[in-house]
Amino acid sequence: MSTPAPVSLSATTHKKVTTLTLRQKKERGEIITMLTAYDYPTSMAMDKAGVDAILVGDSLAMVVLGYENTLPVTMEEMLHHSRAVARGAKTALLVGDMPFMSYQVSVEEATRNAGRFLQQGGMDAVKLEGGRERADAVRAITSAGIPAMGHIGLTPQSINQLGGFRAQGKTAIAAKRLVEDALILEEAGAFSIVLESVPARLAELISKKISIPTIGIGAGVGCDGQVLVTHDVLGLFDRFTPKFVKKYANFHNEMQKAFADYIEDVETKRFPAQEHTVEMDDKVWENLLKQIE
Ligand code: KIV
Repeated sequence: MSTPAPVSLSATTHKKVTTLTLRQKKERGEIITMLTAYDYPTSMAMDKAGVDAILVGDSLAMVVLGYENTLPVTMEEMLHHSRAVARGAKTALLVGDMPFMSYQVSVEEATRNAGRFLQQGGMDAVKLEGGRERADAVRAITSAGIPAMGHIGLTPQSINQLGGFRAQGKTAIAAKRLVEDALILEEAGAFSIVLESVPARLAELISKKISIPTIGIGAGVGCDGQVLVTHDVLGLFDRFTPKFVKKYANFHNEMQKAFADYIEDVETKRFPAQEHTVEMDDKVWENLLKQIE
C-alpha cells in the first residue's frame, strides 16, 4: 500500500476559501499561505496540500515562458493559464494577476479586464500592482463586485522605473510612502495587499496598521501571510534564486536526471521492457503471418 500524501491541518476542512476566510484568519492571528501556480497538476497538488490561496502570477512570463521580466505576458496568456489552474483547485482562493498594461490605461479597461479573470479565467479575485496611483482602479474593480488584492514595495512591472529588482522602502521617506499606500489601498476596497521586498520591520508595521491581511514575499515574518513563486520553492527555475526564497526541492536537477536516464534507457533498449509492451496472442500472430505471406 502506498503512503498517503501529506496535507496541512487546513486541508482537512475542504471548505472553499474566500476573501472573508483570509480576513478572519488575520483577526484570529492565523497565518495565511499563498503560492503561485500556472497549470492544472501543480494547482491540484497545492490545493490538496491545503494552501489558502493560489496566485496565477504574471511571474508566468519568467518562470514558465522564459522571458527576462514580467512585462511581455498578455491577458490571453494569463487567462489560458488561469483556466488550467482553476480546473485543478477546488478549495483555495484563486487570484489572477493582472498583466502589464491590462489596468494602467483607464479604470474602465482595468474593470473590464478584471472581470475577464472571473468570467473567462475561473478566478475568484484579481491582483494589481501599485499604491495610490491604483486607488481609482481598485475602487472601480471592487465596485463591480470583483475582489482586488494590492501589491506594493517591489512591483516587478515597474522595474524600468525602479532601476531593477531591488528592495523598496529603505529610506524613511520611501517607507512612509509605502505605509500611506497601504492605507489608501485599504480605503479603496482592497481585500489584501502583497508586500514585496520591503524591510521586515516596515512590513510588520504596515500589517499592524491595516485591518486587511498583508501577504509578504521577502518582507519578513511579521506579515499576515506568505507567498512564494512555486518554481523557486521547487527549484524549477534555474536562472536565479532571490535571497528571500527557501527551496524545498531541486526539481530542475531531478528532471534533468530523469530525462538523462530515459535517453540512456531508450538508446540501450532497456526501455520499453516487457512490462511496457502489448503482446499478441501466438495464434493471432500465426494467422496474421499466413495472411500476409
Ligand atoms: O507574479 C507573481 O508571482 C507575484 C508574486 C511574486 C507575488 O506577483
